[in-house]
Amino acid sequence: MKLLPFIFIILICWIQLLTHTAAQSCEGRCGGKLAECSCHSTCESLLSCCPDFKQFCLEISPHSGSLLGGTDFRILNVVFNLSSVLTCRFKSEIVTQGYVDGDGVGHCISPMLFESGWIPFEVSTDGVNYNRAGRWLSVHHSKLSAVFKLLLVNGTHWQYYGTPGVGGILLMVWNASLINAERVNIELWGYEETGEPYSDHWRSDWTYLYTVGKDVPNNGAFSFTPKPSEKPLANWDIGSMRVSPSTTSDGARNVNALWSGAHALAYHLEEAFRGDSAGWALEKCVLWDKEEKRIPSFLPEITDCPCTLTQARADTGRFHTDYGCDIEKGSVCTYHPGAVHCVRAIQASPMYAAGQQCCYDSTGAQVLTGDSLGGSTPDRGHDWGAPPYQKPPRVPGLSHWKYDVITFYYCCLWSDNCDYYFSHRPSSDCRTYQAPKAASVIGDPHFITFDGTTYTFNGKGEYVLLQSAAYNLTVQGRTEPMTSENGSVIMATRLCSVAMREKDSDVIEVRLTDRPGHLQVLMNQQELSFSEQNWIDLKGVFVFSAVPQNVTVMFPSGAGMEVRSRGGVMTLTVLLPLEFNSQTLGLLGKMNDDPEDDLTSSDGSVVQPSASTQDIFAFGAGWAITNQSSLFTYDRLHLLNEYYFAPKHDPSFIPNFSVTEDPADPLLEPTLRMCSGIGAQFCKYDTLSTRSLELGNSTLLAHRSHAATMQDLQPVVSCGWLKPPNHGQKEGTLYLEEAKVSFSCNKGYRLHGSQERVCQADGRWSGDETHCVTDDILGIVLGSVGAILALVIMVVAIVLYTKKQKRERMKDKGDTVVYQPHTVNL
Ligand SMILES: *[C@@H]1O[C@H](CO)[C@@H](O)[C@H](O)[C@H]1NC(C)=O
Repeated sequence: MKLLPFIFIILICWIQLLTHTAAQSCEGRCGGKLAECSCHSTCESLLSCCPDFKQFCLEISPHSGSLLGGTDFRILNVVFNLSSVLTCRFKSEIVTQGYVDGDGVGHCISPMLFESGWIPFEVSTDGVNYNRAGRWLSVHHSKLSAVFKLLLVNGTHWQYYGTPGVGGILLMVWNASLINAERVNIELWGYEETGEPYSDHWRSDWTYLYTVGKDVPNNGAFSFTPKPSEKPLANWDIGSMRVSPSTTSDGARNVNALWSGAHALAYHLEEAFRGDSAGWALEKCVLWDKEEKRIPSFLPEITDCPCTLTQARADTGRFHTDYGCDIEKGSVCTYHPGAVHCVRAIQASPMYAAGQQCCYDSTGAQVLTGDSLGGSTPDRGHDWGAPPYQKPPRVPGLSHWKYDVITFYYCCLWSDNCDYYFSHRPSSDCRTYQAPKAASVIGDPHFITFDGTTYTFNGKGEYVLLQSAAYNLTVQGRTEPMTSENGSVIMATRLCSVAMREKDSDVIEVRLTDRPGHLQVLMNQQELSFSEQNWIDLKGVFVFSAVPQNVTVMFPSGAGMEVRSRGGVMTLTVLLPLEFNSQTLGLLGKMNDDPEDDLTSSDGSVVQPSASTQDIFAFGAGWAITNQSSLFTYDRLHLLNEYYFAPKHDPSFIPNFSVTEDPADPLLEPTLRMCSGIGAQFCKYDTLSTRSLELGNSTLLAHRSHAATMQDLQPVVSCGWLKPPNHGQKEGTLYLEEAKVSFSCNKGYRLHGSQERVCQADGRWSGDETHCVTDDILGIVLGSVGAILALVIMVVAIVLYTKKQKRERMKDKGDTVVYQPHTVNL
């Protein structure tokens, strides 16, 4: 009987804990504004007390689509009255007409947008009160799966239509089930950017041009024979085809539709283009050349390219595969013949929002416009757009089309005047490129710092992995004890979650799930789905995940985080540009090329890497975070109990600091056989302490993968591009250390300077600049040099003579001296 009050008290405490729990996790979602709501409240009631929460109420499918709009998406978690009329409002301003289908499922149509990323929307059943809300993911059209697009069959045929030898019919196909109609209209829309570049009046817009097919069957295919356009519609040379229900009026916006990608409207251009496409295009190219000379150059601002394909593919915090030329997808490099892979700088340049592209050939060397038509070219408009999007040159995909792609058609594809194009869009060699530094957390956590110190820290809790006050970047890691196959606790921990933020970006958390190999990605504590697209533009951060076991997080500073799930453990590799030198602290160390001070504690004291495992353990424990600084989500009871309400570093968890290699242990022999070379030590420790060869093996592989990344990021010396001499040729297109470039002159010209130049370790070319000169010219040059020399000697002689005269006069004041002037012989 005495136990009863005790149990009662425990029960009360438990209930309190639960409600506290609820408030905690609600508060997170509402940005701390929550007062009286609990998480058991329904979505509707939460709306009234926590306005922010409404963002997350509606579940929709599909949750993403093209930024051009027209996607019909279903609302999954609400049943509507069959008679309701739905109105959907995006960003509080763009209204599209929704509907309720025969099953009471609500539908909205996504609007035409000029931005990518999450778009908040609300739904109303009376057109006045918008009391339900959700979010829609707007995706760059090229990043969207082909299933959701109107496809132009044989796009090359479309984009050259009207040039010599190209005509006939044009065919397009689409997935008919994505248009809710028996019959459809096919329309051509034109894209333009108007107003003075870089002024407030710079705008972009879509215009309905004309209907190509009216009231045709929705059977997934349509073909037509284009006619040349009458002026002034020919002014539109970039556009998209759109298929929409035939019940919609011509040019109606924000209706159910499928769009083709933006493309060059060759087939629609005026008669003059068909008559002489090269002449027509050259005229456009020259006009563009004038315009480029008039408006500010963005070239000084863009980042330099990595020197090699290896560097480019390892520098994943700053460069990402170009979808148009991808070695993983068979290297279809339409605009870059000779290249096998291109990458794009992830971040747009700070002021002009310009982009950089870097292409490589099969030997891994850069392909440069100075040597090849397939060279990489920088972009006035970054292909993926740039926050805050909306206006040129930041509109995803389209600004790039306007300034960098259609102009390539004018100068390089429709006419043969690529020099104009390359003079404004030259490849960047890599003379100022600096590879980033890498640090990793692997296995049951072993740390490899930016300066290469390795140590093991098996604390249980939540810790600062990386902190940079200068860049306002924080990366935190949570560790948990491991369990063996039979369920017993192993006295070692593993990384199970990583949370990060830069400045006021969305908080990204990547954590292990119960599904083997699957990583879960949370944005501000809400799960993100990568099922429909593998790249998401978020506030102040991009996230890429092509497969559930790989996640890349990229911040504007150039910091990149690679999270991997392999063999039941999580691996983190952090890539930081050199600007972070001396600007980092935390478990991943002080990045400054000095391995001795990597174990700098939060209080500033330094622990030697050679210190005892206990001292290193104390150093690690000192980097525990606090609830105030925590970026983690505590959405499960055990997370609250073990991490939120408990000390951030669990002092009761004492790991095994070492393992004994017992010859009688049957696991020892296979362990020693497996664990060799780079990573052997960590591999042995992990295998024996967890009794798992699989885990030991993944530690070994992760360590090797880190070593391979370090190898890939090795600095490479580049001497920069060399231009061929006028009236001569250059042999060799490699510009890295030890590369040789040789020169020869055309007939009738003599080589002056170095015939061969070698790229030296100091980044300079050996020898002298090479010229090709005719003998006559040589004579003239030598003649003029001689004449100038004579003139100089004469002047010097006269000056000396006058000086001497003065001096003599001073010396023999009063005396008259007669001088015999010397003759100066030239
Ligand atoms: C996932 O990451 C691993 C290790 O870095 C890599 O080998 C693999 O190619 C990646 N998979 C994809 C699809 O990117």
